[in-house]
Amino acid sequence: MAALPARLIKIVLVVAALGALYALALHKQAERQRLREAAVELTPECKSKLEAYGLVAGEHYRSPYLQKVTGAAPVAAGYSEADIRAIQRGCNIIDDLQGYLAKGGASERWNANRFVRGTYTTCVHCHQSAGDKQDAEGNRLRGSNHLGASWVMADMYDRFTGMILSQELRQMQCYINSSNGFKPNSADDVIRDATAYSRFLSGALGMKIGHRYPEQGLEEIPSSATQRRGDDYVRGAHVYREQCAGCHGQQGQGLVLPGGLIYPALAGRESFSSDSRMNFSAVNTIMPGFICRNMPPGREGTLDPQTCRDISYYLSTLPRPAGDLKGPLSAAWQQVMMTVMPPLTRYAETLQTSASPHTVR
Ligand code: HEC
Ligand code: HEC
Repeated sequence: MAALPARLIKIVLVVAALGALYALALHKQAERQRLREAAVELTPECKSKLEAYGLVAGEHYRSPYLQKVTGAAPVAAGYSEADIRAIQRGCNIIDDLQGYLAKGGASERWNANRFVRGTYTTCVHCHQSAGDKQDAEGNRLRGSNHLGASWVMADMYDRFTGMILSQELRQMQCYINSSNGFKPNSADDVIRDATAYSRFLSGALGMKIGHRYPEQGLEEIPSSATQRRGDDYVRGAHVYREQCAGCHGQQGQGLVLPGGLIYPALAGRESFSSDSRMNFSAVNTIMPGFICRNMPPGREGTLDPQTCRDISYYLSTLPRPAGDLKGPLSAAWQQVMMTVMPPLTRYAETLQTSASPHTVR
């Protein structure tokens, strides 16, 4: 008879543990629901962007951008209050993934930082101007990795995986490798909101579904687009020092000041992983395209295709986190290199600069 109470206690314990888990799940669910219904505090970039696109709730939507550019904006289906909050949160996620500018902290960004390893990684580093880069006259730009243009690209055949990848899956890829993090579920709030925002952009800009726009992707630069002098580490390192290191750091470590990140890292722990398509040794056409079209800021388009390839080659030799396709040994090796290489390189540089030209000769 003594066995009965012991058994009963076990059952009660198991039921209590399950009940606690259930209560926790309910609590999380309620928290998300509250967030879904709460007014959204926009980042400055998103505030001016969404205001300029006249995003307000109503039966109909007319894009001020189209009105200005074409003289007549078609009347489209409008957005509900809930749609608008999703679009706003989506813009915030792209602009400020880890919630540094958010009043409610990271939670206002669906705690998106649980999907990334770095402290400062965010989508806007590569999808500039919250994924909607334009020049001073409001022209969208070729090769600017535009998120509206990516949403309408119905033919999402991806030659790197050989699969049809939806915009949601492409976001997932970027979480994993370009942001060096973890895979959100494709129906996760972080993905759904960024999708709502991308879709809104495409509508506000009058983009047609199934159409391929020049601002989609990064306008790759294959070696056939150059004079085929071969990609050169020394030339790349030289131009990098002259034109890029001032912002991105001598070793691509980026610039962080007490107020936060100023310039993103192109190597090291805060950077994209070795399996990111941005990494020259993973895909050798994409980063050159990004650099030639988008860098240095204010002087975009001044570098020639070979130089962009040279710089990308140089950057690919700097240590960075191993991607998800690499094994644990490679990951451990990269960790060692990321720790050891920066001080070693700094030391080698002090030797070089302390040896004055005549002593070398
Ligand atoms: C290190 C740079 C980098 C970061 C950071 C980054 N991306 Fe990307 N993203 C890319 C590159 C490179 C591509 C592929 C472009 C191509 O194939 O031409 C891409 C493609 C995409 C696409 C598909 C676009 C298309 O037209 O094919 C989506 C959607 C996307 N990223 C969303 C995101 C989101 C959301 C984040 C933040 C969580 C993010 N990206 C962070 C570099 C980045
Ligand atoms: C004036 C400062 C500045 C200079 C100079 C500059 N960059 Fe950038 N770079 C940025 C900023 C800021 C971003 C983030 C995107 C944004 O905010 O527009 C960025 C983003 C990038 C990115 C994508 C971010 C990522 O995570 O991979 C790459 C690659 C890059 N720059 C390469 C270069 C190269 C190569 C040069 C030299 C030819 C260069 N940059 C010169 C400021 C600069």
